[in-house]
Amino acid sequence: MSLLSPRGGRKASILCFAGLLFLLVLYQLGIICGSSKDGPTSVMIAKEKYVMGASDHKVYTYDRTMPLIFIGGVPRSGTTLMRAMLDAHPDVRCGQETRVIPRILQMRSHWLKSERESIRLEEAGISKEVMNSAIAAFCLEVIARHGEPAPRLCNKDPLTLKMGSYVLELFPNAKFLFMVRDGRATVHSIISRKVTITGFDLTSYRQCLTKWNHAISVMHGQCKEVGADKCLMVPYEQLVLHPKDWMKRILAFLDVPWNESVLHHEEFINKPGGVPLSKVERSSDQVIKPVNLEALTKWVGHIPDDVVRDMPDIAPMLSVLGYDPYANPPVYGAPDSLVSDNTRRVLAEGQIWAAKVKKLALQEKPLQPPSASTKDSSDLPNA
Ligand code: A3P
Repeated sequence: MSLLSPRGGRKASILCFAGLLFLLVLYQLGIICGSSKDGPTSVMIAKEKYVMGASDHKVYTYDRTMPLIFIGGVPRSGTTLMRAMLDAHPDVRCGQETRVIPRILQMRSHWLKSERESIRLEEAGISKEVMNSAIAAFCLEVIARHGEPAPRLCNKDPLTLKMGSYVLELFPNAKFLFMVRDGRATVHSIISRKVTITGFDLTSYRQCLTKWNHAISVMHGQCKEVGADKCLMVPYEQLVLHPKDWMKRILAFLDVPWNESVLHHEEFINKPGGVPLSKVERSSDQVIKPVNLEALTKWVGHIPDDVVRDMPDIAPMLSVLGYDPYANPPVYGAPDSLVSDNTRRVLAEGQIWAAKVKKLALQEKPLQPPSASTKDSSDLPNA
């Protein structure tokens, strides 16, 4: 029917009116140029960000609304193993620790703690919104571009969880995996492997356990605050005893489809789309092995008697997390047969693994001897 007929004319005026109404709505929302009652409406908008897959030439866009995965926990709690198992999944890429993400988050906390600095920032136009979008852009850029493109991106800088609720303010669709481990094992690992973490005195089990207790209680608080749909607690002992059950639970929580490869991460070390390892990260020489029980009770017999006696007072978080502070060691449970087989293999083939460490040129010792005056020698910032 022609638009010039009487009915067509009516239709044309309705269309015209609807068009005008649409333009008015856009104008009110400030989407089209002009000025609103409240002032100028021009805005700065970032260009769409994307990376291109090297082999599949697929374009992956990234922005703040993407469902990022963050792996947190006190260092030496199996965080590298967790990320390696996820890295083995074809849809997920975590990669090495970035180190800069917890540092920038900590820097912001320091600024906020100082009233003077907060006023100065506000006066300089660095509002909460500007700060958040700048920090989010920094973190996102680092996460998206420090490794291979993948549909699901993940970050493993364990201390980031200390600022978990803020991270979710930046990335509303992100989720946390919170690695929890018996604090006695974690501290024994820190001390015996000389992992320097700012604030930890490697000469004292008592001091390190106190520090562990503080760090884990902050993270536990953050995990509870963001809620069970955003943060899943993963006990290291249960992950290594029952990897299949736990990885099923973890992938379902992350909305990632099940894939058997997560149970064989050792087959994907440094392969394209697999598990990239840093030559200098402290767990690289351990994570090249299949999931095994070697580390479960290594701590028993190494903690001084007086510390063992005072354990419930030094580390009350042990009981909160379900570890018996009086048991040395607690009964963690019986392993699945896959894990028993892996452990037998790992123990029997010591030389093969040592050769592999050499071949991959992985660092077994700290990069440089830590000293009290060289803050930068720390493996990790303040926990
Ligand atoms: P130990 O130092 O007690 O051996 P993180 O990566 O968070 O620093 O944690 C390090 C711990 O994870 C190490 O503890 C290490 O044994 C354990 N781990 C690494 N790879 C593992 C594997 N393949 N199976 C079981 N545990 C592993």
